[in-house]
Amino acid sequence: LFASECTFFFGSQTLDQLPPPGVAEIAFAGRSNVGKSSLINAMTGRNRLARASSEPGRTKQLNFFNLGDRLTLVDMPGYGFAKAAKAVKEDWQNMMFTYLRGRTVLQRVLLLLDARIELKPSDRDVMELLDKAAVVFQVVLTKCDALKPGRLDAKRREVEAEMARHPAAYPHLVLTSSETGMGIDTLRAEMARLVEM
Ligand code: GTP
Ligand code: MG
Repeated sequence: LFASECTFFFGSQTLDQLPPPGVAEIAFAGRSNVGKSSLINAMTGRNRLARASSEPGRTKQLNFFNLGDRLTLVDMPGYGFAKAAKAVKEDWQNMMFTYLRGRTVLQRVLLLLDARIELKPSDRDVMELLDKAAVVFQVVLTKCDALKPGRLDAKRREVEAEMARHPAAYPHLVLTSSETGMGIDTLRAEMARLVEM
């Protein structure tokens, strides 16, 4: 699946301009700057497919990518600490929440957490929203290259304890780094399995 071509095909700034539902979608969600766009690039092997930036708030719309006509990857604006006007942030969040709750073709959400940063109330809010909407989410730790092995182990246990509290959490946590490629093949294999189901 990930050997096929991946292309950008739609950008939505408002919910009334979503692309018509087609093949299964996987959405990449997480706080601003967590590494959503970088992970899409790492998984598709394309450096500049999704635009990544050290400045939080880089992704400003829902970006839809077509992967071999079999899967759609959706890069979302981040929640949390984006440096944008409050009203703009609220618009993003409303769009994100409504999309996550109501999109019929949404197969799974990859919920990204930065391995270096503690869980925030906004992360738990999103998990609760997904519980309520019964949308399966898989937690992905990002930037694992930035932690020493011992700290990474502690982080894994902390996050797994949180996942155990959420009925919609997929039980397998994936540790990744878009810099070193850690965990990328695992994620690709899991997404490919979803498409085959
Ligand atoms: P928004 O679009 O603003 O919500 O951010 P995002 O979640 O798409 O994050 P993005 O992919 O733009 O990455 C944010 C910053 O984190 C960039 O400076 C990346 O280079 C850095 N980054 C992303 N992945 C990794 C990683 O695996 N390891 C390290 N060390 N840095 C990373
Ligand atoms: Mg982004």
